[in-house]
Amino acid sequence: MRTDTPQTIYRKDYTAPSYLVDTVELGFDLDPARTVVANRMTVRRNPASAQREIELYGEDIELVTLRLNGRTLGEGDYVIEGTLLRIPNAPEEATLEIETICVPESNTTLSGLYTSNGSFYTQCEAEGFRRITYFPDRPDVMARFTVMLRADKDKYPVLLSNGNLIEEGDLDNGRHYALWEDPFKKPSYLFALVAARLVCQEENFELADGRTALLQVWVEEGNLDKTDYAMQSLKHSIRWDEERWNLELDLDRFMIVAVGDFNMGAMENKGLNIFNTKFVLANPRVATDVDFQGIEAVVGHEYFHNWTGNRVTCRDWFQLSLKEGLTVFRDQEFSADMIGTNTGRAVTRIDQVRTLRQAQFPEDAGPMAHPVRPDSFVEINNFYTVTVYEKGAEVVRMYQTLLGRDGFRKGMDLYFQRHDEQAVTCDDFRLAMADANGRDLTQFERWYSQAGTPVVQAETRWDEQAQTYTLRLVQSCPPTPGQAEKLPFHIPVAIGLLGRDGRDLPLTVDGKVHGKDGATTAVLELTEADQTFVFTGVTEQPTPSILRDFSAPVILKHGYSDAELVHLFSHDSDPVNRWEAGQRLAMSRLLKLAGQVAAAGNVVDRLDLDDTFVDAMRKILVDDTLDPSFREQALLLPTESMIADQLDVVDPLAIHLARQFVRADIGARLRTELLAQYDANQTPGEYSPDAESIGKRALKNLALAYLNAAPDEASLALAQKQFDGATNMTDRVAALSALVHARAPAAADALQRFYDEFQGEALVVDKWFAMQAAAPTTDVARVRELMTHKAFTLRNPNRARSLVSTFCAGNAVGFHAPDGSGYGFWAEQVIALDALNPQVASRLARAMDRWRRYTPDLQAHMKRALQQVAGQAKLSNDVREVVSKALA
Ligand code: ARG
Ligand code: ZN
Repeated sequence: MRTDTPQTIYRKDYTAPSYLVDTVELGFDLDPARTVVANRMTVRRNPASAQREIELYGEDIELVTLRLNGRTLGEGDYVIEGTLLRIPNAPEEATLEIETICVPESNTTLSGLYTSNGSFYTQCEAEGFRRITYFPDRPDVMARFTVMLRADKDKYPVLLSNGNLIEEGDLDNGRHYALWEDPFKKPSYLFALVAARLVCQEENFELADGRTALLQVWVEEGNLDKTDYAMQSLKHSIRWDEERWNLELDLDRFMIVAVGDFNMGAMENKGLNIFNTKFVLANPRVATDVDFQGIEAVVGHEYFHNWTGNRVTCRDWFQLSLKEGLTVFRDQEFSADMIGTNTGRAVTRIDQVRTLRQAQFPEDAGPMAHPVRPDSFVEINNFYTVTVYEKGAEVVRMYQTLLGRDGFRKGMDLYFQRHDEQAVTCDDFRLAMADANGRDLTQFERWYSQAGTPVVQAETRWDEQAQTYTLRLVQSCPPTPGQAEKLPFHIPVAIGLLGRDGRDLPLTVDGKVHGKDGATTAVLELTEADQTFVFTGVTEQPTPSILRDFSAPVILKHGYSDAELVHLFSHDSDPVNRWEAGQRLAMSRLLKLAGQVAAAGNVVDRLDLDDTFVDAMRKILVDDTLDPSFREQALLLPTESMIADQLDVVDPLAIHLARQFVRADIGARLRTELLAQYDANQTPGEYSPDAESIGKRALKNLALAYLNAAPDEASLALAQKQFDGATNMTDRVAALSALVHARAPAAADALQRFYDEFQGEALVVDKWFAMQAAAPTTDVARVRELMTHKAFTLRNPNRARSLVSTFCAGNAVGFHAPDGSGYGFWAEQVIALDALNPQVASRLARAMDRWRRYTPDLQAHMKRALQQVAGQAKLSNDVREVVSKALA
């Protein structure tokens, strides 16, 4: 915890490292109260640097000795300023020997070396390695690591690090050792160790070239019955990377370790991925369909980093999206390919669009807005964002849309050919794409440098005489902090035209015939601020389907009539735009109703939902030719925060009441159809997390939720029956949540039974807290009460998030209570968490990002709470950056 003014670091100030490290030998004497780390490294001057000093970073560690070429350095031989240790007048080549001490058991930040449930784990990305030893802890210094671990054999029978196990054996005093060697050079952020009492599921797996790799999933005793899906996902990931990208596993051994205390989802340490238990442990009893999907995606994500991140890494942390955007894109494609069907792919795409709108568009429009490749930061941990990850993945996807799948693949091949075992930049990736395809992608760079969500306004005109259809696209991008003016982006706009019968029309655009092979989608390239495209041979007035498959992360504005939207919702051959038409229909109703509710003083009185909309929803609901998974997505209303994002002045209660009204009205008016779908989409027999079963359960449980949005006796009984008879967690939580949200008298009893049955399963207890935190009946007083529950602790990130963050970021009604009590609670918890774990605190701090958009009364309360946090004398850089940007 630093109390000095935080420093801003700028991308433009990048300089090459003064010294390079060839080899590192680390020796650990592991002890929770006092771990001694011996670090012996060979360094040499970097010819690319003019700097002559050796620069090492260290944080929260005690320096015992520092030796250079065998000579112990004294006070005058080096300088320590904050986290930087400089050794001036260093020779061209040197051997450095550094001994330091750290205290893993009191490291509550979960960065560096820490203990969880008494065992040792590490997290080094981004700058955690400096909490273990002094080192040039920056991603462009890549070295070969050898690691000796020594620890008590009884308490820590398993000793793991990166690469291959070279030797192990016993020592005196009940201790033992293991020696690990990583054959690949790597940046320090990819270092990892684990010393723990664990068990593993393991398997020898044959790789494409005939080699065999040992795969292991390590968990605490008692959890081996929850490792099958992670193992299966790992094998699928390895196969997929071989088949789709010709990328092989480059190690003989690949390990996944699950740990209960972890700041993020997981970490791609070379050969030793460390995971939040949430993304490893699953069986039907404790995990939902969404959990299973999350495990597949995250196991894939971390595995794919082995090439996109580890073999080719980032030059500096401003380039984070180079590995994260690309790897998210890869895990998205993996998940889509694992389903395989067109609709299945589309449903994963719809999910991605929802995430962008729910989280990234608001970030891009708020005080923390930053480009995919930021220009500056105070704390890098604050930049593991939806912009760097999810918008970054959209940017990668746009290359594929512009260059085609084959062209994109050529670009990937060239990227690896050029940059294997290097630390590079986003520009290097873009140039590989351009050069492999003979394309000029200069303008495309703006996707990396300009923040904000572009707006594309579309105007259309059909000329019956000339049989032409003219599409005018005008793009703009709102100002963001530090960027007042924006230049036009290079935007792929995928488009199709629907005829009156709902079928796609053949396309000829600006003389170019599209769809010779039956394809009826054209990818237009919008590069100007204002650009017009002319379709010829258009014999009837078409309905335009613009931005198919969400071909760019933009806001598309077009004056669609209800009739056009209903036409698209009923017929568009592009499932994403078909879904989108339904979202537009719903959004216009929700906005109008929210306005009416607000005008009536937040009273729901004489509201009305039109037949056009309800009929359109009914038609989709009962259309058995459509996959249940698609119907579920199509029937899901935009979330409260998506609605809020459309309004200049946000009244969270009005939005909530309007949305609840729509849910209840649909529930009442489609009761018969919902009940029929509830029955038709049962998945009897053994639970399986395959896409088809997941889709059925999703539609069935959505039907249950709608029925209980306007609960009658029968609906409540249905929920109760499902809860009592559930054989899997998906159905169980869906039923419980229906009871809780319906304020059913039986909800309290059901919650208690749920807790009693699953109190031994930490991840299920998280669900139990989260469900109550999100319930609109939950206010601050109730959250405080839950915080006194014996199972609650702020020290475990999953637990803290399940209650505190879910309430602050996922319960608009409770959090935005008119008396400001939610904000006072937020300030208190941010401050309390910050003293323990700045990364978790800083995430929570962002719940106030958009405070300027709320009603004046709420704004005043929010500002006071922000000032209260900002006024703390002791605050981490993480939280200080977030609150000061919010107040700026
Ligand atoms: N590289 C990890 C992943 O995306 C995330 C690590 C984040 N760590 C952090 N301290 N912010 O898979
Ligand atoms: Zn990642």
